[in-house]
Amino acid sequence: MKNITYINKKYINHDNAKVSVEDRGFLFGDSIYELISVADKEIIDIDQHLSRLKISLKKIKLKYNFKKQNFLKIIKRLIKTNNIVNGYIYIQITRGVAERKHEFPKNYKPTTIIFTKHLNIDKKIYKKGVKIITLPDLRWLRRDIKTTALLSNILSKQIAVEKKAHESWLIDNGYITEGSASNAWIIKNSKTIITHPANNKILKGVTRDTIIKLLKKNNFNVKEKPFNIIEAKNAKEAFLTSSTLSVLPVVKIDNYNVSNGKPGDVTKKIINLYNDYIVKNKSSITEKFSNLKGRPLIKLMKELKIA
Ligand code: PDD
Repeated sequence: MKNITYINKKYINHDNAKVSVEDRGFLFGDSIYELISVADKEIIDIDQHLSRLKISLKKIKLKYNFKKQNFLKIIKRLIKTNNIVNGYIYIQITRGVAERKHEFPKNYKPTTIIFTKHLNIDKKIYKKGVKIITLPDLRWLRRDIKTTALLSNILSKQIAVEKKAHESWLIDNGYITEGSASNAWIIKNSKTIITHPANNKILKGVTRDTIIKLLKKNNFNVKEKPFNIIEAKNAKEAFLTSSTLSVLPVVKIDNYNVSNGKPGDVTKKIINLYNDYIVKNKSSITEKFSNLKGRPLIKLMKELKIA
């Protein structure tokens, strides 16, 4: 199976795609990234991801000749060549190769890499829900930047995995900010849904934004306000969101069951709203792939309707 990766204007075999040991992304984590989901050949929320990529570049003051059309062209080519039906596109931009000094180099040529991955969704976790654990949020205070400097996030995720949990929810000053690689949500009652406000303490997830829009459209009362661990454990339902996981029910927080320890009706409704959104909202660039065959994910989504 072909696996072509884009690196600095070249399309090469993934295994041969290499960056210098003096790349600032490697040395300092001086880089930002995006992960964009592909579901049944539909690229989910591509415009929002590319806007966030541009915002991240600005936030870390990385000078870059950003051309949306270029990214769309590259992404389209990779998806077609690598035949990605379900998976994701990963984009990373670093401040390039330079002598190892902390300050920005005077002149630099950013490194751009874009690769794709196939991904198979584990259906069981959506039906059963997952356990999460809580841990202190030890990250820096610019969590709004989608940087690849993710050491604290990966350590938290590793602890979760070692404790047979799916994710860690991070606690800052008594309040849950987000997960190590996802946004955190609780459902207080059948109409009130709470998630942390999009400030410097969390990453403003693209999935989060889409879910907020869908919820408001469907007359839910969305509260963007911090919630604490007691509110989370007493919640009616809970879930998490990310580009790779969409909407995933959370049924256990530390050792407490959320309600009866099973995915609740409101979460199921939200999963369905999101799935319907994905099916209906073809991105402008995927229209052009209509020659590609197969709609397995849409079939899977129908199966996931756990009504
Ligand atoms: N992570 N918060 C954090 C810390 C994240 O790393 C992510 C996504 C999210 C959700 O953002 P979005 O809905 O835009 O995917 C929130 C990606 C999937 C990752 O690093 O693999």
